[in-house]
Amino acid sequence: MKFEFATANQILFGNGVFGESMMRVENFGKRPLVVCRNDPGFQSFVFETLSISFDEIVLFPVHGEPEVSTVELGVTAAEEGECDFVIGIGGGSVLDTGKAIAALQANGGRILDYLEGIGQGKKLTRKSFPYIAIPTTSGTGSEVTKNAVITSREHGQKASLRSPYMLPDLAVVDPELTYALPPDVTASTGMDALTQLIELVISRKSNPMIESLCLPAIHGCTEALVNVVHHGNDQTGREKMSYGSLIGGIALANSGLGAVHGFAAPIGGMYPIGHGKICACLLPVVFEANWRKACSDQAYSEVKMKMLTAAEAITGVKETDAERAICWLYSLKAELAIPSLEELGVDRKDVERIAQKAETSSSMQGNPVKFTQTERIEILMRAMNN
Ligand SMILES: [Fe+2]
Repeated sequence: MKFEFATANQILFGNGVFGESMMRVENFGKRPLVVCRNDPGFQSFVFETLSISFDEIVLFPVHGEPEVSTVELGVTAAEEGECDFVIGIGGGSVLDTGKAIAALQANGGRILDYLEGIGQGKKLTRKSFPYIAIPTTSGTGSEVTKNAVITSREHGQKASLRSPYMLPDLAVVDPELTYALPPDVTASTGMDALTQLIELVISRKSNPMIESLCLPAIHGCTEALVNVVHHGNDQTGREKMSYGSLIGGIALANSGLGAVHGFAAPIGGMYPIGHGKICACLLPVVFEANWRKACSDQAYSEVKMKMLTAAEAITGVKETDAERAICWLYSLKAELAIPSLEELGVDRKDVERIAQKAETSSSMQGNPVKFTQTERIEILMRAMNN
């Protein structure tokens, strides 16, 4: 056994930690660039809370998932506002935007110099400007990851800016901040958190430490997700989802994902569909395809064992078979009314191209079995119809 493990410098978790922590963050700097979602009511709440500690705040509101141009505008805003650190408060897209801005502020240059795959992929050589990440959704765990997923419309692809230098200095995970999330966002982000945890456990890049962290978190999410979608103020459920998302992020910074995220990268680059919705739609289909392929080849006996362990965590039933977990995932998708890929807007004529692009996406390299182009097309076609 051989692995490395790194995470955010400090993590604060629990109800009420947002307000408490913002009263003792003066040592981060004098003037923060605050990246948050474009919602005037939310911005006033953030502004009021941060005004206790800072005289000058530069707000940078963002809408949707981060694009190359968003990050570059953010860097300009930070430089013009002479900001000496960054706070990101919002969903995964907001946190990724803040993380990328903090990295570029310290390293200079343009974002395409550093993006994997579609850019030059240059390495970041300097630690990011100080960065505080505060999630208001339970999904990607971006508050503790070392990458930011950026969309390049020019290339029709999502790509990561990635470096250990990008790990946030402080992650403030306050489940109370997620209470106001509407049911559809709770469902799609929650499915992303669950997908990440499952993919991390069965990934080729997993290790015993990842498994010991993620398996209980999978069960916490499967117990809580439906409840929090229907009852947003369910304190225990929200706490489990925030914890699951955090653990997924911690593990993700030290491992790799799988085919759901492997497909989600090109789909998200080609269509303006939220990441969580894409993952939610693909999870049952991909889990089933992984299981069928693992059963078809002796070489995958270890994959079968890992998938059975994941199946136990998903269903909460000891020594269950994988079929039960597959059924459970399909019924979860139905209960949460997750649309098919076609209903989300994916065009059938793009399926072959998505399957081709997915082959080389970084997450696909972590999938426990190798799919052929024909199999990738079959998986996508099932997700188009289901
Ligand atoms: Fe994800």
